[in-house]
Amino acid sequence: MTPAAPRPGLLIVWCSHTGGSQALARAAAQGARREVPGGVRLLGARRATPADLLAAGGYLFVTPETLGSMAGQMKDLIDRSYYPLLGRLAGRPAALIVCAGSDGAGTVRQMGRVFAGWGLREAAPPQVVITGAQTTQAIMARKRIADDRLRAAADLGRALALGLSMGVW
Ligand SMILES: Cc1cc2nc3c(=O)[nH]c(=O)nc-3n(C[C@H](O)[C@H](O)[C@H](O)COP(=O)(O)O)c2cc1C
Repeated sequence: MTPAAPRPGLLIVWCSHTGGSQALARAAAQGARREVPGGVRLLGARRATPADLLAAGGYLFVTPETLGSMAGQMKDLIDRSYYPLLGRLAGRPAALIVCAGSDGAGTVRQMGRVFAGWGLREAAPPQVVITGAQTTQAIMARKRIADDRLRAAADLGRALALGLSMGVW
């Protein structure tokens, strides 16, 4: 008997200017790989294509908030992918991590619209990580994400990858 084909895995798609979202995405990928070694792909939004999204079983989007919404590279990926994938991702699990200076709500709202449009299933509440960067100098500085937030991202990655591998969704 031929073994069953592996289920499509988790795609963690991220962008980052000053390293915060990147660190969170990496933590999520590490958490996911600990649980399901071959079940996760970490991909920068700039390089990601609609085909990459279509090939995955579920999603973790990790983006900074800029000017009240998702960062440009994430928006560009959504703009390139939204209509090609409309009606093709329905029911797949997805989650969101936003790295923001002080807010994050606009990005949660915008990404919520994308999730709804694609019919994605919100697998976990959004994680909003506030860096506290308010001045130009602080905003432009490399970000260090607190350990507990990195752990929370790792737990989210692990839960998504495990759920996908077990066919929970
Ligand atoms: C052009 C620009 C616009 C920003 N706009 C917002 C904003 O609307 N709300 C907010 O909370 N933070 C805002 N920030 C702060 C970033 O979200 C914050 O620095 C975050 O840590 C960036 O994530 P990254 O380290 O992954 O690039 C802005 C930063 C930049 C560079």
